Amino acid sequence: MKTTIKEAKHYINQEVTIGAWLTNKRSSGKIAFLQLRDGTGFMQGVVVKADVDEDTFQLAKDITQETSLYITGVISEDNRSDLGYEMQVKSIEIIAEAHDYPITPKNHGTEFLMDHRHLWLRSKKQHAVMKIRNEIIRATYEFFNNTGFTKIDPPILTASAPEGTSELFHTKYFDQDAFLSQSGQLYLEAAAMAHGKVFSFGPTFRAEKSKTRRHLIEFWMIEAEKAFCDHNESLEIQEQYVTHVVKSVLENCKLELNILERYTEKLEKVTTPFPRITYDDAVEFLKEQGFDDIEWGEDFGAPHETAIANHYDLPVFITNYPTKIKPFYMQPNPDNEDTVLCADLIAPEGYGEIIGGSERINDLALLEQRIDEFELDPESYSYYLDLRRYGSVPHSGFGLGLERTVAWLSGVEHVRETAPFPRLLNRLYP
Ligand code: 4AD
Ligand code: MG
Repeated sequence: MKTTIKEAKHYINQEVTIGAWLTNKRSSGKIAFLQLRDGTGFMQGVVVKADVDEDTFQLAKDITQETSLYITGVISEDNRSDLGYEMQVKSIEIIAEAHDYPITPKNHGTEFLMDHRHLWLRSKKQHAVMKIRNEIIRATYEFFNNTGFTKIDPPILTASAPEGTSELFHTKYFDQDAFLSQSGQLYLEAAAMAHGKVFSFGPTFRAEKSKTRRHLIEFWMIEAEKAFCDHNESLEIQEQYVTHVVKSVLENCKLELNILERYTEKLEKVTTPFPRITYDDAVEFLKEQGFDDIEWGEDFGAPHETAIANHYDLPVFITNYPTKIKPFYMQPNPDNEDTVLCADLIAPEGYGEIIGGSERINDLALLEQRIDEFELDPESYSYYLDLRRYGSVPHSGFGLGLERTVAWLSGVEHVRETAPFPRLLNRLYP
């Protein structure tokens, strides 16, 4: 019977064949332990000299790392392994030998591993991170489909910039100038006026010269937009969505969290509602904490966000930032016109901002004024202004960065390990 490592649990005490790669091995004169992986999981194969023919035992001792093979044997329960079972091997058929595999069980530096990202993806921890990423993607579709959002795909090649012009990737669109999308928001706003509740999930590009553990040049963003929705209602959707994602990962990725040695006590505490603190109060709090470098009107850096997050130990919304440090489209705060109706969601444990969101300006004259103040070309935003010309309604939305969320939930230090092939300031290969 041909099966996989994951499905082998249904074949205890039965003989099966699995297509696999060898990741590591250990042997003595009488027994060989083969560490196997097949994409669905990792499992040990035990080859006992007395139970197999001489050639098979010799083969088991000689197999090299990352050789591909079909392996046949009986699945037996084993409480010491992650999965709870292993294989008592009967025979091995080599598919293709691998020699001098560059990534050996010894320690390699990160740059070396990143140069070999196409191979590094095979390792147990990297495999676990991608599984968690996959679960976040699955839970995202589940959440938005279950709550009545329609998926709308905004374009990648665009003529307008939602988040400021300094970080745009320029390209030629025949004889016109174009940019790679830095957010699908403006198009989602148009779609929300057609469908009410919409979301998107796609790649976004930021030519940011940032070399931090939170910045990628290309990342995936989940964005949602809702018509007839004020900022507070949007915050409720955000906290429900994030809670759903956290719970799904805790429930469906136990093995992966274990492999990553992720401490989950803090994740288990994540539940709605999330604490909220205004930007004004956050500045006061930081001053009390001894941050002398922060003045009202300045954006927070990573140390500021971490100090605020540590205080709550939960995801926390920082609301109502100063107008002058946020994009042109945000609705003014009626209680203080120097601030806007927006929030950043800061993840605990130092993972930083994972969501940016706001209520959008719905008044035509005000939006025209803001486009003018930001020195944006009104012609490229004409379609966006139309949304205010023809039946404008209050509406709000947000965007969650996938890779930062993967980093937080899987507990990896740097976002470069959360994308299969990360695009970084100094990396376009492999
Ligand atoms: O805060 P940002 O820039 O918000 C927007 O783009 C809005 N238009 C979204 C909306 O309202 N529809 O980006 C949203 C999120 C951030 O909170 C962060 O998680 C992630 O995208 N992000 C990045 N992730 C990795 N690398 C980068 N360079 C990122 N820039 C933003
Ligand atoms: Mg932001």
